[in-house]
Amino acid sequence: MKKVKIGIVGTGFIGNVHGSIYSRDPRTEVSALYDIIPERAEETARSIGGKICLSRDELLDNCDAVLVCAPNKTHIEIATAAVEAGKHVFCEKPFTTGMNDAKTLLATANGSSKVFQVGHNRRFAPVYVKLKELLGGDQPHSAHIKMNRGELVNPVWTGDVNVTGGFLYETTIHLFDMIRFQFGEIAELVAFGSQHEYPELDEFSIIFKFKNGFHCTFASSSDASWHFPFERIEAFCHHRTIMTEEMDRLIDSNGMDANFETHSFHMREKEERWGYVQEDRTFIDSILNGTEPPVTALDGFRAVQLVESVYEAIRSDRPVRFE
Ligand SMILES: NC(=O)c1ccc[n+]([C@@H]2O[C@H](COP(=O)([O-])OP(=O)(O)OC[C@H]3O[C@@H](n4cnc5c(N)ncnc54)[C@H](O)[C@@H]3O)[C@@H](O)[C@H]2O)c1
Repeated sequence: MKKVKIGIVGTGFIGNVHGSIYSRDPRTEVSALYDIIPERAEETARSIGGKICLSRDELLDNCDAVLVCAPNKTHIEIATAAVEAGKHVFCEKPFTTGMNDAKTLLATANGSSKVFQVGHNRRFAPVYVKLKELLGGDQPHSAHIKMNRGELVNPVWTGDVNVTGGFLYETTIHLFDMIRFQFGEIAELVAFGSQHEYPELDEFSIIFKFKNGFHCTFASSSDASWHFPFERIEAFCHHRTIMTEEMDRLIDSNGMDANFETHSFHMREKEERWGYVQEDRTFIDSILNGTEPPVTALDGFRAVQLVESVYEAIRSDRPVRFE
């Protein structure tokens, strides 16, 4: 079988995570690497192989599928060039930044006959797969969610709004995608934000109301320390609370007494516990089978829309309603 040739644009942290996974997948070959800092591509090539390309065009000439793994603001330009070159695209989150770019990239992706998948890896993390399975059998009423960070200094650009598009595009957007995945489409949101540690809004309280009547509170802080669990969903059902603790654990407390059951995933390798292995596998499945990827450009677009709607609600001091 002919291997799918993978080209990676941006060989920093996440580019290496995906590169390492694909270097072990018998269906793929890491064929091309491009980074604006060539030493980074050289370092990656030393560990997983691949041609070190000196331009993005050279990379596009040497692969079938492009992984967009450079910082947020670059995604639109790199992903557009890859689609226009007829490549399959795996675009790291965020899909892009800002509504204008999100609309443009959605139209570009929809016009492509190739696969376009967005890197919302948490959908594949076993803890969230388990949560979805349990919620499928028990309609949740409401939830309390937090998605915190300890700092915006690592990598250095995470504190630069000109590169990230805003704090919410960093980690918070993962759980914006997650609440759609778990609870359905959103009808309305109200949001409050404030600024403390960084030169942008860095602290958020949001209430989401869903089209199916479900509602949840959502807190996100940029400088809350790395207190465990920095990421948590508590879903409240009929005499039942199901709680996740990062990607490590799910606790299911079901009934009127104080019993609970724990599902623990902490012994799994991080790249599987966080869903990276599984999302990379599904990208290749979609390419080989000609099927729609499990996280589409429209899903990426919706997550950007939620980020921008929260900023809009805070700016205007009004709720935002969705069609
Ligand atoms: N899904 C996840 O869990 C996850 C985790 C981390 C990062 N990310 C996303 O992945 C992207 C990269 O994050 P990271 O942590 O790997 O950052 P990083 O700084 O470690 O790596 C980014 C690399 O891109 C290179 N680069 C910058 N501009 C470029 C360009 N125009 N063309 C080619 N290379 C360029 C940089 O030199 C650097 O080596 C970000 O958008 C981030 O939000 C996703």
